[in-house]
Amino acid sequence: MATAAPAADCRRRAVLSTTLSRTSAAFLFLSVVVVGAVASARWITSTTTRRRPSPARSHPPLHPALPHPIPTPSPSAAASNNNSCPSYFRFIHEDLRPWRAAGGITRAMLDRAGLTATFRLVVLGGRAYVQRLRPAFQTRDLFTIWGVLQLLRRYPGRVPDFELMFDCVDWPVVRTHLYRGEFAKIMPPLFRYCGDDSTLDIVFPDWSFWGWPEINIKPWDALLQDLKDGNNRVRWLDREPYAYWKGNPSVSVTRQELVKCNVSSTQDWNARIYNQDWFKEGKAGFKDSDLSNQCAHRFPFSSLTDSIKYAVDWGNSHKKLAQRIGKQASNFIQEELSMDHVYDYMLHLLTEYAKLLKFKPTKPPEAVDICSESLACQAEGLEKKFLLESMVKSASDTGPCDLPPPFGAHELTMLKQRKENSIKQIEMWEQGASKS
Ligand SMILES: *[C@@H]1O[C@H](CO)[C@@H](O)[C@H](O)[C@H]1NC(C)=O
Ligand SMILES: *[C@@H]1O[C@H](CO)[C@@H](O)[C@H](O)[C@H]1NC(C)=O
Repeated sequence: MATAAPAADCRRRAVLSTTLSRTSAAFLFLSVVVVGAVASARWITSTTTRRRPSPARSHPPLHPALPHPIPTPSPSAAASNNNSCPSYFRFIHEDLRPWRAAGGITRAMLDRAGLTATFRLVVLGGRAYVQRLRPAFQTRDLFTIWGVLQLLRRYPGRVPDFELMFDCVDWPVVRTHLYRGEFAKIMPPLFRYCGDDSTLDIVFPDWSFWGWPEINIKPWDALLQDLKDGNNRVRWLDREPYAYWKGNPSVSVTRQELVKCNVSSTQDWNARIYNQDWFKEGKAGFKDSDLSNQCAHRFPFSSLTDSIKYAVDWGNSHKKLAQRIGKQASNFIQEELSMDHVYDYMLHLLTEYAKLLKFKPTKPPEAVDICSESLACQAEGLEKKFLLESMVKSASDTGPCDLPPPFGAHELTMLKQRKENSIKQIEMWEQGASKS
């Protein structure tokens, strides 16, 4: 299973191989020499023609009926019914809490976030400006910025002015313990695709919601449908009773450990582990990475050997319960992680973030104006296909869902406690099973 919850386990999607990064470093270097000579990436350098419709000769019109800017829906359209966002939205408050406690975000803090950031993003009056600071892996930066542009199309007039720093690398870097006491005044607000308990990075939906062309992961709306179809194609009980995982093992020690749990001629821990072979599959068009094909196994998840064996045995002897767990996870993905919610998450996060800024966002001289048309026109192949597929076609005529309130101190403690207790409980069961 490889989904990309805005606030959930980002590592599932973060398939970045050592071998590939070596290649891509070379590739990036090349592209930096070739493209970087004119100071910026392809998609940023040639955006100056943004207002003009694309020349129709070489590119078909993206969306002929595309007014710019898209009309703002009347605020009254937002229903007054209970339209609460899913509860994971409450982590927006958690992610921003340190800066609220520090009295807001200063320019000094933002500048510090620039130390590792891939790009600076400024939104002023509904237009986006990007200053590219470092090369990103593959097309992550392009697809992330694309996502923000689609947010502006979906909610015209509602995205506040802001200035932020975004880091496209997988792992969080803003260590909480470094920013205590007087150091809080330089605490960097840095956006990225994931966070954890010992860091302060602000979590933002990852690029693959708009597509991941390098490994043929479609935009999320299409992928959700494929997953649904895949789930319907093979009855749960008819699936192979194994845990299934596919990814690139060289990314982390945990993943290398996981490969050791694979079935062999001498052992079977009920796990079927597959290497994501970038080069072989690249040639085959990554047909085999298609997530909906992975529904042929009952338990698409990862954990370590004993846990896997225990969990699969448990699942196979508690079929009804296991199926219910799977069903609830699918429902969560289909309903609470819909693209509508992804955009609402972005809007609420950016709105709350903007409220904390203690300086007036300004467009740095190096930043260039970016718009959907120019970005998509310059893309080619799968990249272009995914951009067009994930393009927001019209403004939303209802408001975003209502942001739920922050956790009370006690609530969050309870939540963490419950999670720890569940893990402890399962570890005890696992120990019991391995003794018997
Ligand atoms: C609104 O709905 C959500 C879930 O849909 C629920 O958790 C929440 O308690 C509801 N709030 C009110 C005030 O009814
Ligand atoms: C795991 O075992 C299966 C079945 O033998 C094999 O096809 C697969 O390549 C193995 N995975 C890895 C990562 O070696």
